Amino acid sequence: MQPSSQPAAEVGRPALPEDRPAPPKDRPAPPGETSPREDAQFAAAFQALVDAEARIEPRDWMPEAYRATLIRQIAQHAHSEIIGMQPEGNYITRAPSLRRKAILIAKVQDEAGHGLYLYSAAETLGVSRDELLDLLHSGRQRYSSIFNYPTLTWADIGAIGWLVDGAAITNQVPLSRCSYGPYARAMTRICKEESFHQRQGYEILWALAHGSGEQKAMAQDAVDRWWWPSLMMFGPPDDASPHSAQSMTWKIKRFSNDELRQKFVDMTVPQAQAMGISLPDPDLRFEESSGHWRHGEIDWSEFARVLAGDGPCNAVRMARRREAHQAGAWVREAASAYAAKHQVGVLTGSAA
Ligand SMILES: [Fe+2]
Ligand SMILES: [Fe+2]
Repeated sequence: MQPSSQPAAEVGRPALPEDRPAPPKDRPAPPGETSPREDAQFAAAFQALVDAEARIEPRDWMPEAYRATLIRQIAQHAHSEIIGMQPEGNYITRAPSLRRKAILIAKVQDEAGHGLYLYSAAETLGVSRDELLDLLHSGRQRYSSIFNYPTLTWADIGAIGWLVDGAAITNQVPLSRCSYGPYARAMTRICKEESFHQRQGYEILWALAHGSGEQKAMAQDAVDRWWWPSLMMFGPPDDASPHSAQSMTWKIKRFSNDELRQKFVDMTVPQAQAMGISLPDPDLRFEESSGHWRHGEIDWSEFARVLAGDGPCNAVRMARRREAHQAGAWVREAASAYAAKHQVGVLTGSAA
């Protein structure tokens, strides 16, 4: 399951209307500064770039709704990476061997790194990391609802790697062809690491599934609990996903929620069979005519409930996040003081 590392085809960039330079990113076409006619011309040139598979870069003109959609999506993605460290971080001290502990530490550190790449990508759109963290901490921006489920046994670490990181890869590989350059480039690197995460999860479950009866039962129990929430990670069904069509036109999204969910199911069912683990869906069946595995009905009321804040771990995840942010205040202050001192050194030519 290699992520696609193919960059979008580079094509000649059409000139903007009347050869005017695009407004710089810190001046995103304030109301009244450009005429409606100019706005329409910029919008047409923007869509032509997108249609031609060119990348939109931070200093290019872009519709405000495109910018806002990307900020919301990239921020939610970044928040998910750092909140996602919690359920697994919980098992670093309980990993069953030194090897498992070393792998898990590396994996959790990768997730922190993904958060950093993504906050940096969001910053290119004119919003600061501090602002985004404030929005997360005040509950005004979300993270993926999957991280509101608890990790009850070591097998959950395997199930998260295999299913949650597996679903993340399915979502994120197409995002490496997203029209916004900084997001797409962050995704290429993230997907390479997610691929390792998925394999390490599968390997944990494989070992348990081939162990004692008790270990096998532990693996099965974890998969039983994580399967349906993993399918929900792709978001609501297409007919209840109002923003999808616009995101597809802007080439932020390349496949619909249901298409991605189907890809994930088709990839995962044979892997479960190879491990000898069953999936908790009595309606799961292979459809000869389409060549797809068809899953049963998803309980969308559970999804809505967890999203609304009533999942098993919503409160604890947010409380820990706020605590961690507060506990890290001295690090941010020290880093700022060091940067200021270094800056003085650069200006005066003295060693800092
Ligand atoms: Fe990640
Ligand atoms: Fe991951």
